[in-house]
Amino acid sequence: MKMKKEKIRRYEFGTPYDTGATVKEIERTEGVPEGFSYYPKTETFTYVLRERDMVFGLGETVRGINKRGWIYVSNNTDDPEHDEDKVSLYASQNFLIIDDGHSCFGIFIDNPGTVTFDIGYTNDNVLNIHPEYNDTSFYVIDGKDPLEIVHSFRELTGKSYVPPVWAFGYAQSRWGYKSAEEIREVARRYRELGIPLDMIYMDIDYMKDFKDFTVDKERFPDLESFVREMKEEGIRLIPIIDAGVKIEDGYDVYEEGVEKGYFCRKEDGSYFVPAVWPGKVHFPDFLNDDARRWFGDKYKVLTDAGIEGFWNDMNEPAIFYSEDHLKEVFGQLREFEKMDLDIWNFFRYKDVAASLPNYPGDYRSFYHDFNGKKVRHDRVHNLYGFYMTRSATEAFERNVPDKKILMFSRASYIGMHRYGGVWTGDNTSRWGHLLMNIQMMPALSMTGFLYSGADIGGFGGNTTEDLMMRWVGFGIFTPLFRNHSAMGTREQELYRFERTDDFRNLIELRYSLIPYICSEFMKAADNGGMYMKPLFFEYRKDDRCREVEDQLLVGDSIMITPVYEQNKTGRYVYLPERMKFIRFRSYDDYDEEYLAKGDHYIRAGLNEVPVFIRPGKELVLAKPARCVEEIDLNDLIHIRY
Ligand code: NOJ
Repeated sequence: MKMKKEKIRRYEFGTPYDTGATVKEIERTEGVPEGFSYYPKTETFTYVLRERDMVFGLGETVRGINKRGWIYVSNNTDDPEHDEDKVSLYASQNFLIIDDGHSCFGIFIDNPGTVTFDIGYTNDNVLNIHPEYNDTSFYVIDGKDPLEIVHSFRELTGKSYVPPVWAFGYAQSRWGYKSAEEIREVARRYRELGIPLDMIYMDIDYMKDFKDFTVDKERFPDLESFVREMKEEGIRLIPIIDAGVKIEDGYDVYEEGVEKGYFCRKEDGSYFVPAVWPGKVHFPDFLNDDARRWFGDKYKVLTDAGIEGFWNDMNEPAIFYSEDHLKEVFGQLREFEKMDLDIWNFFRYKDVAASLPNYPGDYRSFYHDFNGKKVRHDRVHNLYGFYMTRSATEAFERNVPDKKILMFSRASYIGMHRYGGVWTGDNTSRWGHLLMNIQMMPALSMTGFLYSGADIGGFGGNTTEDLMMRWVGFGIFTPLFRNHSAMGTREQELYRFERTDDFRNLIELRYSLIPYICSEFMKAADNGGMYMKPLFFEYRKDDRCREVEDQLLVGDSIMITPVYEQNKTGRYVYLPERMKFIRFRSYDDYDEEYLAKGDHYIRAGLNEVPVFIRPGKELVLAKPARCVEEIDLNDLIHIRY
């Protein structure tokens, strides 16, 4: 009797960890996934790409929507230089779809250690997948088209996190708001200019000496009443929480963690000592059930003060240096002191000095107590941010069951999308990074990370008014819509610029779009769909759509064509079918015209946002309000195709 081939098949190699990525048990299929060869000696899976194969996915990674032609390494890394020659960022979302336009399939490599995906980089027509330690559940997902595969993948991995509705509003953030007074001033300036705003973020500056779950009493004398005061203004305060817990006698989180044995230990049983913002810290063992529960309950001190949202940072985990490696480096540097540094020794010297942060040896020197087993960190490295976020969200369900709490994280792994969203880390104020944001979004949608977005305007470097305006023009469509920047860079709150009327119009347009954004987001969350899609996913038979890397479908009704280059007052667009073109200047000031299938040059000035309505569809707009909860959903404007 011929057995029916299951839509999702799971192959096993080594002894896979129960990572928590999936919510559905799939029985093991023996052997090697069809189409792949497996070379046990090099622990590499090889697939010969068909000439017209395109490769989609991998979530938060650099480069184009079609990933073919580059090499990607899933190894969550705190690296603010997001250039396109990078191979690892903060996330590991090992889901890919391979599609030549006729037949397609998906793969998910559930392995929480380092996994290298060479997607036609070494050889144009070869996909090589190499896990550093091959303890892998290798899933193959069949489907008639990419959207069906995405749907099955999400059935396998569970429903996406849905934030509270106000989290779809606009947010202002900056590393460096040092006091309640400074934050009040931000709120005041936004309200004065009538620019809608729902959230102000509190970066590490609010803490006392960068200690998690503490608040500096001098600079934030009464957090509870400050939270209340801001909420009356329609603004929520969203504090950051870091992974490392400062080592300091008398600090309750540290003392309790040590006493209960909840921090990660080295081989010899002593606690591992890395350093981050506060200096030396311990890492909570989020992979351990008890430690995870314990840490999660700590957020209560802030939710009790009225806080309704958090962002989890530095949870790759980032390491500035470790106590042990610092000693080694000092030792080695002393040897260089006696030398005449010729070119080779000088380079060696530089490498030794530069080896301090995120040193691979450090990630091999501490352990977790994971599902009852002692597991060396590097084997499960990519789970750390996921389990930190899980720790928080599970605690919110226990401790604040009646409220929806906003939660998103920097590091992530598949499965974390059930517990929170992500922001894409420390980008830079560069035009190229706006394009990167556009290209990352559909891959994040694919992997289930629907509530996501980048630092609008760029985190590092100095932004410019035109870049900010274009970035806002795209950001108004991303679920997480936050202007964030680094200490020491040019201040980029929208009121710092000259064209505040244009900025107000754009942010108001975002608020008008909220009913559409939320309903399309919910559809994607409920049905395992994608909030943002490459055109190819819907127009698979149209060869031109294979090449479209800078236009996206947002929900079911619209296509967006952001302008992401300097000095442009328009751009070329490709329409896979006739659409209605709307050029928005504000929610109630726009031009409209029908454009035929094909290529067009469209004008879109700095303050204008091009949107296309698909045949038979409509765009619903609300009247903007100062914050999401004040939007009147009974007073909607319909723009029909
Ligand atoms: C790194 C984060 O990516 C960034 O957003 C934050 O501002 C800094 N840490 C300081 O907390």
